Amino acid sequence: MPDFTFAHREEGFDEHINRSVRGYSDLLQDVISLSRYFIENDTNVLDIGCSTGKVTEAMLRHNTDHCDNAKWIGVEFADGFKKDLVKREASLKKEGHDVEFQHLDIKKFRGWENISLITSIFTLQFMSKKDRMEILRNIYTGLNEGGAFIFAEKTICQSALVQDMITFNYYDYKRSVGKFTTEDIMDKERTLRHMMKPLTWEQVEHMVRYAGFATVQPFWRNHAFVGAIAIKEYGRT
Ligand SMILES: C[S@@+](CC[C@H](N)C(=O)[O-])C[C@H]1O[C@@H](n2cnc3c(N)ncnc32)[C@H](O)[C@@H]1O
Repeated sequence: MPDFTFAHREEGFDEHINRSVRGYSDLLQDVISLSRYFIENDTNVLDIGCSTGKVTEAMLRHNTDHCDNAKWIGVEFADGFKKDLVKREASLKKEGHDVEFQHLDIKKFRGWENISLITSIFTLQFMSKKDRMEILRNIYTGLNEGGAFIFAEKTICQSALVQDMITFNYYDYKRSVGKFTTEDIMDKERTLRHMMKPLTWEQVEHMVRYAGFATVQPFWRNHAFVGAIAIKEYGRT
């Protein structure tokens, strides 16, 4: 299984991603706030590529006052997160929550039904177009009418000139604010080379609409990273 965890780094994965993506904490705050409009009792909530499970737990905490009977599912295939997820699942279950972290490739997930909210934060960008389209179709089918898909993706620019500027602007940020060394930045680029399959925002939006979503709205942008919400409208199949 590919290792996306970077958990071998001293700071751990959660801190690593926080330092790597400018405004990541704002993005998560928005995702958690938006979740409140969609999560309903007696439905499933799915977090695709949930890493340590922190977003799943944060959504649960933000919604249990009005929704104490939802089922929370996180899917993650990297071995490095297994221990964290087993621990988090046990402690949330002890509190009485219906939580299940599945150590699984999302391509093998079979629970595409009765879902009120699906999140995918920087996960689909690691899939080929073919796999991504299949997952997007499953996401659309699995959502209840009125349900939402909230996602974030690393994108590429349409203009080579702008891409070049954004890339180096991003490296400068990682060095100065993120406190990564040039070697760290280049090592990560090399590690991700065969895994990362970024598309332009226009391509991402096209695929999400092609899967069936009529409403697709970006709500957060930073460097080449985009956060967006897609809603499954009533009366469309
Ligand atoms: C950049 S990380 C983001 C993790 C998490 N959403 C967050 O914001 O902390 C992408 C995650 O997606 C997971 N992932 C990638 N492809 C996957 C797949 N096909 N099935 C399940 N998990 C996947 C990776 O293992 C990794 O944990």
